[in-house]
Amino acid sequence: MRYGNLDGKIAIITGSARGIGLASARLLAEAGAVVIITDINAEGAQAAAKELVSASLKAEAFHLDVSSEASVKKLMDQVYESRKSIDILVNNAGILDPTSIPEMTQEKWDQTLAVNLRGAQFCSQHVLPYMTKKPGGKIVNIASQAGQLGGFAAGVHYTAAKGGIIALSKAYARYCARFQINVNCICPGFMLTDMTRDRNDDPQIVPLKRLGTALDVAKAVYFLATDFSDYITGATIDINGGFYLR
Ligand SMILES: NC(=O)c1ccc[n+]([C@@H]2O[C@H](COP(=O)([O-])OP(=O)(O)OC[C@H]3O[C@@H](n4cnc5c(N)ncnc54)[C@H](O)[C@@H]3O)[C@@H](O)[C@H]2O)c1
Repeated sequence: MRYGNLDGKIAIITGSARGIGLASARLLAEAGAVVIITDINAEGAQAAAKELVSASLKAEAFHLDVSSEASVKKLMDQVYESRKSIDILVNNAGILDPTSIPEMTQEKWDQTLAVNLRGAQFCSQHVLPYMTKKPGGKIVNIASQAGQLGGFAAGVHYTAAKGGIIALSKAYARYCARFQINVNCICPGFMLTDMTRDRNDDPQIVPLKRLGTALDVAKAVYFLATDFSDYITGATIDINGGFYLR
């Protein structure tokens, strides 16, 4: 294949112990990247990296709490020090809390915003000193259909954070264009992962008549992380089976 090869690229994927993050890490690794599996669940990250390595892929695990700027900075410094390059960042880590508007508390608001929005901000800010050392970097942010449509089962804090990710992606796209770094955003719809397993979303409300999978999102992450998307920046890609047509 002439395009899409990631041999020699170093890719950091946040929240990749499972779900969309792990599926994305696997696809990027299958395309040749060294994938840095990072998660607040350190054991889960180790297990995920081990699974990829046992499939002859290149992976390494790190503990990361995206809500801690110190943890984020330490990760970026360590990865660059050992790998001498950071080419791809996937801001995927997230938490879902269904607290309703009348029940919202400052603590719940702050916790969700800290992981789902501030996390992507500081990962992006602290990767840039390394990613800007050469052109061709890629940042992929995972937002949500909730950020476009107001959210169904998700709380207002989740919805606001994901709307924020869409805007953050455009702001970074504008800033990073001068470095030939592409920044794009993905809005998954109703996906079946551990995050949503207890929700019993009805596939019949989706035009394609099925819930999405982690792999459905990972395929778009792969597209946006490779040279297939070299002239795309600041875009939002919907992965929702046709639920939100615009
Ligand atoms: N599943 C869906 O229906 C859906 C829909 C739209 C958007 N999304 C978004 O996709 C992303 C991945 O979701 P998923 O369905 O794979 O969820 P998931 O719960 O399976 O995976 C999320 C991962 O993030 C990790 N994580 C949580 N807090 C963290 C922190 N502070 N620092 C680092 N890692 C942390 C978790 O340990 C977990 O491994 C999230 O941003 C989510 O909001 C999911």
